[in-house]
Amino acid sequence: MEKVVKVGEVAKKIKEKIENYDGLIRVITHYDPDGLTSGAIMVKTLLRINKKFHLTIVEHLSKEIIDELVKEKQYNDALFIFCDMGSGQIEHLIENKFNAIILDHHQPKVKEVEVDGILQLNPHIFGIDGAREVSASGICYMVARVFGFYDLSVLAITGAIGDMQHKPFIGLNKFILNEGREYRYLSIIKDLIYHCYDIPIWEAITYSTNPYIRELSNKEECLKFLKNLKIDPNKKELTHEEKQKLTNALIFYRKPEDFIVDRYTIKHKVNDAYYLSELLNACGRKGLTSVGIGVALEDDECIKIAKETYLKYKRELIEELKNVKPKKMKNIEYFKGKKGMVGIVASILVKDRPVLGYHEEGEKVKISSRGNKELIDRGLNLGKVMEVAKEFGGEGGGHDVASGASLPKIHLDEFLKRVDEIVGEQLKSKSQFR
Ligand code: C5P
Ligand code: C5P
Ligand code: C5P
Repeated sequence: MEKVVKVGEVAKKIKEKIENYDGLIRVITHYDPDGLTSGAIMVKTLLRINKKFHLTIVEHLSKEIIDELVKEKQYNDALFIFCDMGSGQIEHLIENKFNAIILDHHQPKVKEVEVDGILQLNPHIFGIDGAREVSASGICYMVARVFGFYDLSVLAITGAIGDMQHKPFIGLNKFILNEGREYRYLSIIKDLIYHCYDIPIWEAITYSTNPYIRELSNKEECLKFLKNLKIDPNKKELTHEEKQKLTNALIFYRKPEDFIVDRYTIKHKVNDAYYLSELLNACGRKGLTSVGIGVALEDDECIKIAKETYLKYKRELIEELKNVKPKKMKNIEYFKGKKGMVGIVASILVKDRPVLGYHEEGEKVKISSRGNKELIDRGLNLGKVMEVAKEFGGEGGGHDVASGASLPKIHLDEFLKRVDEIVGEQLKSKSQFR
């Protein structure tokens, strides 16, 4: 609780900084569900207090993007709000004399709230784990709530789900969840995961990647499966008896807790937080970032486009899952995949060793690596592993369970060998103590 109070104090300072600024506010955010919900929380907040703003969505706060913003700054001395990014690039922002607010949850380079005209709200400064206890949308919400905008808690929770922080919600996320429930913007029910989507049950099962049931990820097989159970495949909501029948049949493939989950129903036109995060994910991955913002802001037409995009994206993802051919090394697996999908495919493929997926972009390869809780408990830290890209003329980093890198493609083989060794060392070092 003490940590929440400290975050609240910084949030108050940020509120004052925003209120006292009468010029243009530039909001820069990330394209994934956490970034899009962060952007939407800031847009709603700024609209409600009647501020002029302009929102931009980017993939990474790269040096090129910062250079562009510096140019823009020369003719328009705006206040910048960086969401879901900025803490890792703060040195460049200081160097270029940005008047800025950073609302981020990635590891900060500088563990201070106020540095040279920049106000930074980052959970790590207060001993809160930004990979598990709060996402960027939660940090943005901590600012919005100082204005009294508690309804935006539903977007904060949606962003946290997008960053996979909901199994289970802990720390600051739990605080936000409880606040949303208290004000009746959100409620939790135990239900079939397939009920969260507003689509026929056969589509919900066939296109589900969480859980991914390979045997049912095909229209004909899934229809046959439902027919055997005498369940109408076009139904969206099943009766209690049908649910029971389905559950009894699904445990043949998966543990019940994989498909009987906590559902977060929210006061929003997309009334389930998981479905909303999935719609935003599909929009982000397909480059429809403005549509994503429209969805978060409850625009009917954007929601319609997002629902279509979601199915299209899932069909491609299921196809990709069937096509990738992972290769095994001693301690890792790796595969070549498609841009926008490698991270998710890698996370689905993880079992007893970390999985790396890569795709080529010109002379470079971009890599996503994913692990799971069991591997983390055994000593794996993929963020550290990916930093080795530096030795091969690239860069990399991220969280223990999910990280990424980019490097010249001629060095990929050597890089994979080195990664295999480091992962082996990490897993060995901890196992001595088990
Ligand atoms: O690449 P990253 O790990 O960010 O992908 C996270 C997103 O991938 C989540 O928002 C979720 O929508 C999607 N996902 C999925 N199926 C999984 C795991 C993640 O669709 N099994
Ligand atoms: O850039 P960012 O920090 O948002 O990326 C975090 C990534 O880590 C997301 O793709 C998220 O889905 C992934 N993740 C994961 N498993 C977890 C936690 C996060 O794959 N347990
Ligand atoms: O790109 P991907 O979703 O695989 O990234 C996973 C995590 O690794 C994200 O948190 C991202 O910010 C981080 N990352 C990084 N440096 C890179 C690539 C990814 O810190 N070069």
